[in-house]
Amino acid sequence: MKKIEVSLNSKSYPIYIGCSLKKIGDLFRKYPAGEKILIITDENVSNLYSENISRSLISIGKKVDIFVIKPGEASKNFEVAYELLKKCSLFGMDRSDIIIALGGGVVCDLAGFVAAIYLRGIKFVSIPTTLLAQVDASIGGKTGINLPWGKNLIGVFHQPYFVVMDIQTLNTLPEREINQGMAEIIKTAVIRSKKLFTFLQKLEKSQLHRFFSRLVYECVLIKKRVVESDEKEEKGIREILNFGHTFGHAVEINSKNLNHGESVAVGMIGETYIAFKKGLCSQKLFKDIISLVEKYGLPTRSDVSASKLVDSIRYDKKAKGGRSRFVLPVRVGAVKTGVEVSPEEILLYWEKW
Ligand SMILES: NC(=O)c1ccc[n+]([C@@H]2O[C@H](COP(=O)([O-])OP(=O)(O)OC[C@H]3O[C@@H](n4cnc5c(N)ncnc54)[C@H](O)[C@@H]3O)[C@@H](O)[C@H]2O)c1
Ligand SMILES: [Zn+2]
Repeated sequence: MKKIEVSLNSKSYPIYIGCSLKKIGDLFRKYPAGEKILIITDENVSNLYSENISRSLISIGKKVDIFVIKPGEASKNFEVAYELLKKCSLFGMDRSDIIIALGGGVVCDLAGFVAAIYLRGIKFVSIPTTLLAQVDASIGGKTGINLPWGKNLIGVFHQPYFVVMDIQTLNTLPEREINQGMAEIIKTAVIRSKKLFTFLQKLEKSQLHRFFSRLVYECVLIKKRVVESDEKEEKGIREILNFGHTFGHAVEINSKNLNHGESVAVGMIGETYIAFKKGLCSQKLFKDIISLVEKYGLPTRSDVSASKLVDSIRYDKKAKGGRSRFVLPVRVGAVKTGVEVSPEEILLYWEKW
């Protein structure tokens, strides 16, 4: 098992990579807390993993309850958050107790949000079980829910007590979910790591599962460094993690069939196209990113119209004074933040691409 410490003054926490969920009680024993634990998970993950975890926690004397939500992005809303808060209250949880988020990014964002606002904030432990959540969503303390017209528009920064990743859980993930995770890994490579980008180019896709541990470790290290230097996205550093997400979120909210990672893949290509057209990056970089996206089974286009896209981007959290601000790639491992792009330019470039 590897341990990476995220250093954030009073809110520092460890990330354990490669811990067997069957033995999770041993880890909890080390951390002071009340006796109640509420596990928040979704139907798919619950069927696979919640029993092992409950058993291990009960064996160390914890009182465990579980709340199972419907899988998918549609659960990241106020109604489900309200039901969860009600559950915390009825279970009699106090500030010393712990919420566990067991699942993908949807569960991590939602459970983290509930933990952040219940009794003005209680402890939560993230146990991400998708590739996307292990390399991205479970690190950095961003929690939240969606509004019908925009992604993650409600939320709080709330750092976890600790994070536990069992790489073996990735063995039960459907291929489409693995591909989603690859979108965030490609993003991480483009913004910060030429070494990772080259590795992804050389890797045989059929061998991917052999390298999950390494990919997760590399991405966690990169994200933790970014988060440490700009915890609340105030210094313009953390913003780099949004590459692909300005278009990506707009595609995701309008598309009937694309998930988060797939939308980000389309977003990275659209945004790199703008970078190329604005003379910020080479055509080669644009083509290299398309090749990687295709190689890892992700879409390069969506059927969302340019006008719908522009409409949704207005609600993007990064917009300032009505103008959209993009993170655009300059070369592999380097991006430029805060690039303003007008709605007219978006209409033109999106249609062209
Ligand atoms: N907070 C952040 O910093 C951050 C960063 C990136 C993404 N996100 C959010 O993450 C969400 C996407 O996360 P996701 O892709 O993990 O989606 P998800 O949570 O919907 O999980 C995808 C699917 O995989 C299933 N699943 C999860 N683990 C499994 C396992 N081990 N075996 C079999 N099936 C499993 C789930 O039931 C679900 O059907 C989006 O809402 C996005 O906004 C947040
Ligand atoms: Zn993302």
